[in-house]
Amino acid sequence: MSIECVFIAGAGAMGSGIAQVCAQAGLAVILSDTDEASLAKAMKQIDWSVGKLVEKGKCKEDKTSVLGRIQTAADLSRAGQGDLVIEAVFENREIKQQLFKELDARCKPGAVIASNTSAIPITDLASVTARPEDVVGVHFFNPVPIMPAVEIVRGILTADATMETGVEFVSKLGKTPIRVESDVPGFLLNRINLVGYVEAIRLLEKGVGTVSDIDAGVRLAFGRRMGPFETGDMVGLDVSFGALSAIYDATRERAFFPPQMLARKVKAGQLGRKTGAGWYRYDENGNKLED
Ligand SMILES: NC(=O)c1ccc[n+]([C@@H]2O[C@H](COP(=O)([O-])OP(=O)(O)OC[C@H]3O[C@@H](n4cnc5c(N)ncnc54)[C@H](O)[C@@H]3O)[C@@H](O)[C@H]2O)c1
Repeated sequence: MSIECVFIAGAGAMGSGIAQVCAQAGLAVILSDTDEASLAKAMKQIDWSVGKLVEKGKCKEDKTSVLGRIQTAADLSRAGQGDLVIEAVFENREIKQQLFKELDARCKPGAVIASNTSAIPITDLASVTARPEDVVGVHFFNPVPIMPAVEIVRGILTADATMETGVEFVSKLGKTPIRVESDVPGFLLNRINLVGYVEAIRLLEKGVGTVSDIDAGVRLAFGRRMGPFETGDMVGLDVSFGALSAIYDATRERAFFPPQMLARKVKAGQLGRKTGAGWYRYDENGNKLED
């Protein structure tokens, strides 16, 4: 099926970024969220981000044309309009499975149903639908308008044609598809990346290094743009905790056991940049505050 209209469920950091890049690529977008404030925040963020890209000459169209392709919705009633439906809600298996059941009931025949999950196996989500062959992982990285890689993840029953639709869609966005041929929890890139994050937190817990020293060291020694704690705050501590829990539950590998300090911060609502505090503290515009 050719993709003309993309329906997105979840307008948080990822859903809003995905809506933006789809609109920039000329696709019609319906961005939905059950939380009105999230939708308003998403549209404000997209407005700001497209404006910046136009200013820098990285988006050739005017802002109004790009934004004009995005409509918002407070529920799933328009999911049937999507040729491609992308789920980007909380990283929680029960919430996602409930959503997939509802999407299965609403999506048109032949539509591709994708998940942006960080770590939950695609097969687990596909299994609650009557059309697992149409379900695929399309895993973007944060911030979506900037990061060029997108994992295309095959569930056990994903059809070849569905994988190809995922690959073509991502290529149309000007991004590079990374094929993941088996939906092991965490896929390829989080499987690699989260091990380093867990180790950084464990070293912090043992008092071997501080948050800012570990981040500075990783940036300067390994040529990364951000250290593990800076990345962790951008991603959201709840997102990483959810991803680690999913990988650990499935593999029982200690390398993925969510560290105490991460679990405690999530319980305390210190989720990173989006809540004003995580490993660092932030002002209301998301700028890091000096200690
Ligand atoms: N944050 C990252 O860096 C990152 C990177 C790659 C993938 N992901 C994955 O993307 C997904 C979304 O992450 P995020 O960081 O955007 O989360 P977020 O917390 O910023 O946003 C999630 C949004 O989903 C909405 N939501 C929750 N339940 C819903 C439902 N049933 N129907 C409609 N909307 C619902 C919430 O209101 C919220 O606005 C997660 O699966 C996460 O693992 C996140």
